[in-house]
Amino acid sequence: MNAIQAIRGMNDILPEDTDMWLHVESTCRSVLEAYRYRQIRTPLLESTELFARSIGEETDIVSKEMYTFLDRNGDSLTLRPEGTASCARAGIQNGLFYNQQQRLWYLGPMFRHERPQKGRFRQFHQFGAEAYGWPGPDIDAELIAITARVWRELGLTRPRLEINSLGTRETRRRYQAELVGYLESCIDKLDDDSVRRLKTNPLRILDSKNPGVQDVLVDAPSILSFLDPECDDELALLKGNLDSMGIEYRINQRLVRGLDYYSKIVFEWVVDGIGAQSAICAGGRYDDLVAGIGGRPTPAVGFAAGLERIVDLIIEEGGGVAATNPDIFIVSEGSEGRARALVLGEELRDASLRVQVHFGEGGIKNQFKKADKSGAELAVVIAGQELSEGKVTVKKLRNGGEQRMVDNGETLKTVQELLNSL
Ligand code: HAM
Repeated sequence: MNAIQAIRGMNDILPEDTDMWLHVESTCRSVLEAYRYRQIRTPLLESTELFARSIGEETDIVSKEMYTFLDRNGDSLTLRPEGTASCARAGIQNGLFYNQQQRLWYLGPMFRHERPQKGRFRQFHQFGAEAYGWPGPDIDAELIAITARVWRELGLTRPRLEINSLGTRETRRRYQAELVGYLESCIDKLDDDSVRRLKTNPLRILDSKNPGVQDVLVDAPSILSFLDPECDDELALLKGNLDSMGIEYRINQRLVRGLDYYSKIVFEWVVDGIGAQSAICAGGRYDDLVAGIGGRPTPAVGFAAGLERIVDLIIEEGGGVAATNPDIFIVSEGSEGRARALVLGEELRDASLRVQVHFGEGGIKNQFKKADKSGAELAVVIAGQELSEGKVTVKKLRNGGEQRMVDNGETLKTVQELLNSL
């Protein structure tokens, strides 16, 4: 019979990798808590309409990549492709934005039916933060500072920050007309995808990876010359904030985002030389989204970072985390030995020690091999003489192998003495 496989693009994260994942997740969490962001957990499934109305019908995500199905009641549901729409929906539904400002964060799986490749999966994980109720750009700068701090704490040196402003809706309307006029004048140099986008979502052509299209874009008009004075000032203020915090950036006037809800400031952290999927984190302002899905007008800004790409990068940059080993491995003999090992394990864990108890078959020699492999500092042995006399032997597994046979009641004290002498 064939063994059942996981779904393409959806990966198991195996025990040998979860120490690293836990390290990244706890770093993100402690940084976000230091800025007083509070966690929000939203369902993995939402009504399809939420994403269609927020991310935009013409985007790749909504038009091609969503896992959408009818449930047993005939309602159209979608596995969340990102977290921002759900945060906004939950905030409106639970009155979180009513006369209040909110700093929220989340971490969890997202789903997009993209073509899997290095750094691109169908189930992937994001951690993200969203701030509601501040017009910015000071809070935008704080969000960028959060991401910069996360990279620092994870020891990452390669992410580079790019920023841009997409202006207001009016800015984009005027800019789009100009851009389409320019691109139509060189339509013979565009690829099929870009020609199609001229009709559906022209700004996304700026994102094209096709070298021929990129050549055409060199002389394309820049959105920055269409900004109104307010957006211009906001971008200048953000740059000032970043300069004073010592965060380096590059203005990328071609930075547009793949989701329609953005306005004004947008940003991306990119890493050169990691292939096509170079963005490890992206975000920006989306002041029109909350009203667009039925809430009161609420200024908002946020980001999300891809955990798979971050984990890969830590490994590429030579980083790692020490595995969490047990403090003690209990070696025992026979059913009486096992019974005492179970009880002793509980007592030692009550004292906050990490304890691995051996179960199943295996002689003492074999168990010592396992104890060595486990990385434990000490072995506690309950066999032979220990069993007949109600004693245990506590033995250092390294550093000379000092060992002491003591009464059962002395085990914790002896373990602590030997651990302290390491
Ligand atoms: P996004 O650019 O679609 O933005 O995704 C953010 C990050 O998620 C990307 O930079 C990348 O690191 C990671 N990511 C996206 N798709 C995949 C994939 N298929 N496989 C692996 N990693 C992936 C958003 O999702 C917005 N919600 C960000 C945001 C929050 N804007 C405002 N607030």
